[in-house]
Amino acid sequence: MNALAIRTNGLYKTYRTGFLHKKFLALNNLNLEVKQGEILGYLGPNGAGKTTTFKIILDLIRPEKGEVYIWGKRAYGSSYRQEIGFLPDNPYFYDYLTPLESLDFYGKLFNFKKSERIERSRELLLWVGLDNFKDRQLRKFSRGMLQRLGVAQALINNPKILILDEPMLGLDPMGRRELRDIIIKCKENGKTVIFSTHILSDVEMICDRAAIIFNGTVHDVVSVEKTLETEIQFYEVIYANTTGKHELIRFKEYKDAMEGVENINKQGLKMISFNPHRMNLEDIFIKQAEGRINRWGK
Ligand SMILES: Nc1ncnc2c1ncn2[C@@H]1O[C@H](COP(=O)(O)OP(=O)(O)O)[C@@H](O)[C@H]1O
Ligand SMILES: [Mg+2]
Repeated sequence: MNALAIRTNGLYKTYRTGFLHKKFLALNNLNLEVKQGEILGYLGPNGAGKTTTFKIILDLIRPEKGEVYIWGKRAYGSSYRQEIGFLPDNPYFYDYLTPLESLDFYGKLFNFKKSERIERSRELLLWVGLDNFKDRQLRKFSRGMLQRLGVAQALINNPKILILDEPMLGLDPMGRRELRDIIIKCKENGKTVIFSTHILSDVEMICDRAAIIFNGTVHDVVSVEKTLETEIQFYEVIYANTTGKHELIRFKEYKDAMEGVENINKQGLKMISFNPHRMNLEDIFIKQAEGRINRWGK
């Protein structure tokens, strides 16, 4: 149990950019572990190095230093890619194909027989909720539908590991929810999933753990469940003052908060709310982000 599906060890990656080919360190000693069967949220702002990490794991680009291990074995060449399904951040589909034709095309890339391709494609379209649209041209698809097809494409070779690069980006709330449900279903079917995002709520809702990346380094890895179960940090009391304006007071201790509430009552003021505040992913993220995000880019 708890074998590591993916492990990266001390990855360094520099890009050369601009006219002067200035060096830019995109990954700086990046260590990441994805456990078997979990959903890991890879959380970081734009430009943090998430896509670069994925490309290195998939051996699409090479790091200057560091190694990638898949199921404990050094990942070289293309054979281990059978293990991995990948949804890129900007998947490209042929507008005039239908989902069925698209999946058939990807099936061919894996040398599946025709009968196998048909069966697998139909099954996957059902799986991602596109079976009613299997004969509709993709140019008529919404972004959410295309993303779901993207996941189906990533699953075509029945991989054990699924890597999704910003799968929820640009989706409306319904689309996000549908995609989250598909990711959960993948986990329930024994797959290991890592997806990148900068949306905290998506991570809180479905991930087992979150790895927080800034400037090419993973700074923190947290168990989402444990984070949400942490002790109460403070109590927030909101009341209406004599002019009816809402005021907020924070108390560290429960006893003091209750005293505060009593005082508010004594003064005949109206209580609006009483909220215990637990540490959430946002607090952790903000703490990590302080001083780390360069708002002006590189
Ligand atoms: N091919 C490239 N050439 C030069 N710079 C790049 C290239 N790809 C990415 N970068 C830079 O490396 C950093 C990390 O990029 P990326 O891995 O795409 O981040 P993320 O996916 O977290 O937004 C960014 O500052 C980006 O501009
Ligand atoms: Mg990216």
